[in-house]
Parts: sequence; C-alpha cells; structure tokens
Amino acid sequence: MPSGKFSIRVIRAEAPAIRATLASVTSFRQTLRLADGRTVRIRPISADDAGPIAAGFALLTDEEIRSRFLHQIKSLGPEQLQQLTHPDRRNEFVLVAAEALPPGQALVMAVARLSRDSADKSRAEFGILVSHFVSGQGLGRRLLQLLLDWGARHGLREIYGDVMAENAPMLRVAAALGFERERVPGDASLLRVRKRIA
Ligand SMILES: CC(C)(COP(=O)(O)OP(=O)(O)OC[C@H]1O[C@@H](n2cnc3c(N)ncnc32)[C@H](O)[C@@H]1OP(=O)(O)O)[C@@H](O)C(=O)NCCC(=O)NCCS
Repeated sequence: MPSGKFSIRVIRAEAPAIRATLASVTSFRQTLRLADGRTVRIRPISADDAGPIAAGFALLTDEEIRSRFLHQIKSLGPEQLQQLTHPDRRNEFVLVAAEALPPGQALVMAVARLSRDSADKSRAEFGILVSHFVSGQGLGRRLLQLLLDWGARHGLREIYGDVMAENAPMLRVAAALGFERERVPGDASLLRVRKRIA
C-alpha cells in the first residue's frame, strides 16, 4: 500500500482467526503507526464498536458531522448504530480505525463505509469520517483505498460519494485516488466524486 508523503507505517497485517474468510479479510486488517506517534488498527467494524462510536460522536465538531452526513445531527440513534455495526455483508463493508485494543475497549477514530445501491448493485456509495484528533496523517486516503480494494474484489463497477463543495480535504483525498468530480443536479453545494473500478 503506497504511503505517499505521509510517514504512516504498516506495523503488521494481521492474520484473521477464521481461515475460510482469509482471502477477503486479510489485507483489511492493518496496524499502523501515524506520524503523531499513535498506533492505530484498521479492521472491519465489530458489533462491540457501537459503544465507543456512540461515545466518540460527542467529540466530533459540527463541521465534521455536517461534512459526513450532509446535514446536522446530534447523535447516532440506536437504529443507525445497529445498522452501522451489523453490516449486511453482501452489500456493505465498514472499516474502522481504532486503538489497538479489543473492540468495545478501543476508541474508534475513523469509520469508512461502503454501501451498494439497491437499484444497481454494481455501484456503491462511500462515506468516511476521520476524527480531527487524527486527521491529516493519511488515514482518510488509506481507508478510501481499502474501500476501493474491497469493491474491486466484490465486483463493483463504480464507487461514488457526495461531498460538500467546500470540503477541500475530502476532494483532495478523492482526487489523489483518481476520482473524477461532477456537479450534483439541483444542488450547487455538493459535488459527486466517482471512480470506475472495472
Ligand atoms: C475528509 C477526511 C475523511 C480526510 O481524512 P484525513 O485522514 O484527514 O485525510 P488524509 O490525511 O488522508 O488526507 C488529507 C488531504 O487533505 C489535505 N488537507 C487537510 N486539511 C486540509 C484543509 N483544511 N484544506 C485543504 N486541504 C487539506 C491534506 O493535505 C491531504 O492532501 P494531500 O495529501 O494532497 O496533502 C476527514 O477530514 C474527515 O473525516 N472530515 C469530516 C467528514 C468528511 O468530510 N467526510 C467526507 C464525506 S463522506
């Protein structure tokens, strides 16, 4: 995985416990050392992450929440949390970047989600949130790259996301990974970034 100019380092790619899922899971588990010295584990989301994610939500800024959800929300409701932490594995893929502790104990610093369109399963929308405590160190780019990798392995043709037009960090991450951008008809405040995979 290229690290670009960031001094992010992969410490190890962890072997999953269940051999049957090895091919699809192996590279989605990585332990990284960030430039600020933090050790962060990227892994598929666990049901036990619900508590830390709900608690961590309170530490997000209004701007982070608006940038991710495109409107303001005060908290993640029980249904949203349940859906996020129990992805439908055929149609969704969710990664977290968290402390290197067991799920439930680990603070979750970033969540990246990919969700197939119900009308066209060959397309999927992404959403990423990297907490400002760890942003600007290459995590957003790495997580989006991993979503692209998952999509390529699971037959997706295209990945896209709607981004606020003033969201320079997300637009830079997307551009760096080869996403094209286009207008969203009827909404000048948004840009759609999309990348064909195959
Ligand atoms: C957008 C977001 C995911 C980026 O995550 P990140 O971990 O900071 O991303 P990276 O560190 O991989 O890269 C950030 C890029 O933006 C640039 N950047 C950072 N802050 C910036 C700013 N204020 N203005 C312009 N560019 C900025 C960085 O320099 C880097 O670009 P470069 O590699 O060309 O130098 C994160 O800021 C975030 O979660 N924001 C709130 C939610 C959101 O916007 N989600 C996206 C919509 S789904």
